[in-house]
Amino acid sequence: MKKSLTLSLLLGASLFAADLSSVIEIPDASKIIQKDLLAPVGIYKMPDGCVTNDPKAIARGSYIFHNLNGGNAKGDAPEGLSKKLPDGKEKQYGNCVACHNIEKAVGGGNVGPDLTKYHEMFIKSGVRDAQYVYQKIADPRVDNPNTNMTVNLATKLFNEKEICDITSYVLSIK
Ligand code: HEC
Repeated sequence: MKKSLTLSLLLGASLFAADLSSVIEIPDASKIIQKDLLAPVGIYKMPDGCVTNDPKAIARGSYIFHNLNGGNAKGDAPEGLSKKLPDGKEKQYGNCVACHNIEKAVGGGNVGPDLTKYHEMFIKSGVRDAQYVYQKIADPRVDNPNTNMTVNLATKLFNEKEICDITSYVLSIK
């Protein structure tokens, strides 16, 4: 009994002392960081006909605003939007609601400003225009380098058309 205990202790100690550096993977962190770095700040001009009153575009914008992961997104995706990417992977939506409240939002966050009555408060009053909102959603760093908001076009999370849909939703009268 005593003998086997001493033996196993010795074995344990020798395992500890073994040089495991050849079997432990040490990835090059600088490469991982490079891959995760954000693209440089981009200035984006709204394409022609971007902001629209088309209810289908507004429905897509609303869906993107209120949801995150395609597979778990609430309800069916509206016309022109898919829960999957062409390669079959799950589509990520905007999850804007995590940080912003907007009309009747379920679980609207307060990291960013409340976007309720945006048209009345910011567009009609002339404080903002559609181009500002488009740019803010595409790349919010342009007027605030330290923004906490997600970057959407420079990162290719969304394309121009999708940013137009989201802008149309924010600017729509709800
Ligand atoms: C992680 C938090 C976060 C997320 C997610 C987020 N935002 Fe923001 N947003 C902010 C913050 C903070 C500000 C205000 C400060 C700034 O300009 O960066 C802001 C500002 C804005 C503004 C400008 C409001 C104004 O007129 O001053 C708009 C419009 C906007 N966000 C829309 C969106 C949309 C649409 C989405 C989803 C695609 C989104 N945000 C996602 C945090 C967020």
